[in-house]
Amino acid sequence: MLSWPIVTTATPDNKPVSIVIVGASGDLTRKKLLPALFSLYCNDLLPERFHVVGFARSTMNDGEFRRQVADTLTCRYEPEPSQCDIKVGQFLKRCHYHSGQYNNADDFRALGRRLEHLCGPRANQLMYMAIPPGVFLDTANSIRRAGLADEHDGNWSRVVIEKPFGRDTESSAELTRALGEIFTEGQTYRIDHYLGKEVIQNLLVLRFGNRIFEQIWNRDHIESVEIAFSEKIGVEGRAGYFDRFGIIRDVMQNHLLQTLALVAMEQPIELSPGEIAEEKSRVLRATRPMTREETVTGQYAGYRDDPEVPDDSITETYARTTLWVNTPRWYGVPFRVSAGKALDTQKTEILIRFRSLPFPLLGDVEANTLRIRVQPNEAIELVLNNKVPGLSLTTAPVGLNMLYNQQFDTALPEAYERLLADVLRGDRSLFIQQKELGAAWRIVTPLLEEIESERIQPQEYAYGGSGPR
Ligand code: NDP
Ligand code: BG6
Repeated sequence: MLSWPIVTTATPDNKPVSIVIVGASGDLTRKKLLPALFSLYCNDLLPERFHVVGFARSTMNDGEFRRQVADTLTCRYEPEPSQCDIKVGQFLKRCHYHSGQYNNADDFRALGRRLEHLCGPRANQLMYMAIPPGVFLDTANSIRRAGLADEHDGNWSRVVIEKPFGRDTESSAELTRALGEIFTEGQTYRIDHYLGKEVIQNLLVLRFGNRIFEQIWNRDHIESVEIAFSEKIGVEGRAGYFDRFGIIRDVMQNHLLQTLALVAMEQPIELSPGEIAEEKSRVLRATRPMTREETVTGQYAGYRDDPEVPDDSITETYARTTLWVNTPRWYGVPFRVSAGKALDTQKTEILIRFRSLPFPLLGDVEANTLRIRVQPNEAIELVLNNKVPGLSLTTAPVGLNMLYNQQFDTALPEAYERLLADVLRGDRSLFIQQKELGAAWRIVTPLLEEIESERIQPQEYAYGGSGPR
């Protein structure tokens, strides 16, 4: 049996914990982090004594902050609506707000005094950097100067950093180096929320927990692999951030390359964070960098009308590329990876296309496929050829479809719930380690540099269409 750690308790020591969200006035905090913390609270997965303190420059008092987050809290685990209201009220009482500047150590010292007042001097501490990457270092320096990164008296202090970790190989290495002077690697949790998604976590189990797959999971039996991410919405409300990054840095370098690594990696020696990261980084290092010849970039019509986007922006909102993993297992198998915003479908899925039969005994039957739907409607569908019932020998492809919502009598946890629970328990298995980061940037950086230095124009595509040709 695979011994994936089971989340059944709060932190092992149940010590008080202060959870600080830096950038708490922002989108991620409202939409994802506080709802996830609330779900953990409803599920008794937070220690008895905890406080959530939001920190940002915007001026707000506790009441205003609580009102801002109240609307986004939903009781996923609580069937009784009246109970839900009680829980929301109890949770909000533990939420506080502290206004300050990211580059001002005195503001963080004041925050430290507030944390001590709320949770006592012996609390563990989780700092979540929900801020744009440009402010990471200033903030980290203020945290260090205020003494908030220090671990003492057996208490831990952990920092969670949101992607994107840098803009390219060099800036990512520089960020890692600079943060490494402030936090040890063991204190650092680089979050890629795709790794917290159920179906992505299941890739390890699907591949290494089912004997039938390992023998055919290679170039002899697999013709191609497709990893596709598409969203119906554009960059509404996030254009300022997005225009400096583009879809290759925003989604491909992290979410999709992590997915590719889990699909393509060899079996780790054990399920420890180090061994999983080792295998993922090996496969990423074996992947040929993206090339201009095999990549199409696009920008949806109307993108440049956003007031936060320059009129001459060449930022790509769509990219499609073919990657080649040069290992004995995968040599010659194309990995077609695509990501786009403002498209006609909302989905993330992995499609494994098996090779055709070596001998056409049954005529022209279709090759088998395995479709792994990450979202929405999480599912795993294996398409096999079947005899159509009747007097003649006619075949048809038929899907064996395992839909999560039919198969499992439980709501799927949000990725951020799982990942925040892991940070509290000190489990780094689902977080990006330093060596994977460099390996992933190596794949995208040369093309990104070419796009920028030669100002390669993306193809325009219709908002809500199927993307560039
Ligand atoms: P926001 O743009 O909403 O920024 C968060 C807060 O940071 C803002 O409320 C603002 O607070 C402060 N801020 C914004 N811009 C600047 C700036 N230029 N200089 C200083 N402070 C600034 O970001 P999100 O909440 O969307 O994302 C936070 C992090 O999480 C980012 O790294 C993002 O890439 C990542 N992420 C976000 C996701 C999402 O769904 N939103 C999904 C996955 C990752 P104030 O002005 O009050 O200080
Ligand atoms: C984020 C990107 O990391 O992932 C966003 O910054 C993208 O641009 C989002 O929309 C997609 O996440 P999910 O969980 O909705 O697939």
